[in-house]
Amino acid sequence: MTKILAIETSCDETAAAVIEDGVRIKSNIVASQIDIHRRYGGVFPEMASRQHILTISTVIRDALIEARAGWNEVKAVAVTYGPGLAGSLLVGVNVAKGIAMALGVPLIGINHLEGHIYANWLDVEGKGRRPRIKFPALSLIVSGGHTELVLIRGHGSYQILGRTIDDAAGEAFDKVARILGIGFPGGPAIQKAAEGGNPTAYKFPRARLGNSFDFSFSGLKTAVLREVQKYSAVDRLHQPEESADQPPLPLKQMPTANLAASFQMAVVDALVDKTKAAAEAYDVAEILLAGGVSANTLLRNKMMSGAGRPVRVPPLYLCTDNAAMIGAAAYWRWKAGDVANWDLDVVANLRLG
Ligand code: KG4
Ligand code: ZN
Repeated sequence: MTKILAIETSCDETAAAVIEDGVRIKSNIVASQIDIHRRYGGVFPEMASRQHILTISTVIRDALIEARAGWNEVKAVAVTYGPGLAGSLLVGVNVAKGIAMALGVPLIGINHLEGHIYANWLDVEGKGRRPRIKFPALSLIVSGGHTELVLIRGHGSYQILGRTIDDAAGEAFDKVARILGIGFPGGPAIQKAAEGGNPTAYKFPRARLGNSFDFSFSGLKTAVLREVQKYSAVDRLHQPEESADQPPLPLKQMPTANLAASFQMAVVDALVDKTKAAAEAYDVAEILLAGGVSANTLLRNKMMSGAGRPVRVPPLYLCTDNAAMIGAAAYWRWKAGDVANWDLDVVANLRLG
């Protein structure tokens, strides 16, 4: 049995996990910094790296204790090397490097997005064996910084079919939540605000971008902003003077639930339509959802209905950032012997942004 200690610090979660044979989650510790960043309305990079430094050693120790694993059982150390916030990545990479050197075990650098995909390979039903995912598979990765459609022909074999040309899906959720004034992180806030709202109340745009599998969400964000401005008190105050003799705009309550529901439906429609079209075009065996936005209930349900092939969705706690997924991805690299010189290469491969 191969136990891999995995570390993830690419954004605002300090996370460590022990994964056995790339499938069994022996431990999965996530220290969220959301309460710290909430007061800034988004992730404050400098604060994120400081917080990683403060918590990383406790998080790793807890991961080993919960897994009942000794240092001598760790066969390799896996770490996210990018993409992500530079200062945050450096904390995890340096700690992982130190541990790997001290233990004399390989260090495996993992791309964060590859990690998200591999959340689908973890055994979440406690069966002790890995899900039998058939290739070619298509993964829709939807996170705070990325929206990508990836064709997976085999372990480690990826072809990007499409990606966002502007905002990522999660970023759109976060920005629109800020426009609606309903909090951070935006995804869960919008999902909650949309409950009871009418998703057809507003006809927000769904960017087609020809026959490509690319996405665009900035037009949608602007359309929501324009609607919100109609209700904002600021706009009423800045009516041009010549219109002073005209009746003022009726003071209406902003229909937040309808706006949130219509926005959510527009994002989900775009994601689902393109993913299903790509699945048909490449005749894939399965669809794998990945990344924080795949925690969205509407997206999960719409993707699963009428997809014509199995759609796998990680449980909620594996959709958002965690180290278990990094350990799962690392196992396949380890198995393929793809670990040589990683102790030297990780920093060279550190991706910024
Ligand atoms: O994958 P992730 O945890 O971190 C990154 O790698 O970026 O994704 C975070 C993103 C945030 O933008 C957050 O608003 C979004 O995932 N998110 C959601 C939901 N839960 C988290 N978006 C829509 N619906 C949700 N339920
Ligand atoms: Zn992520």
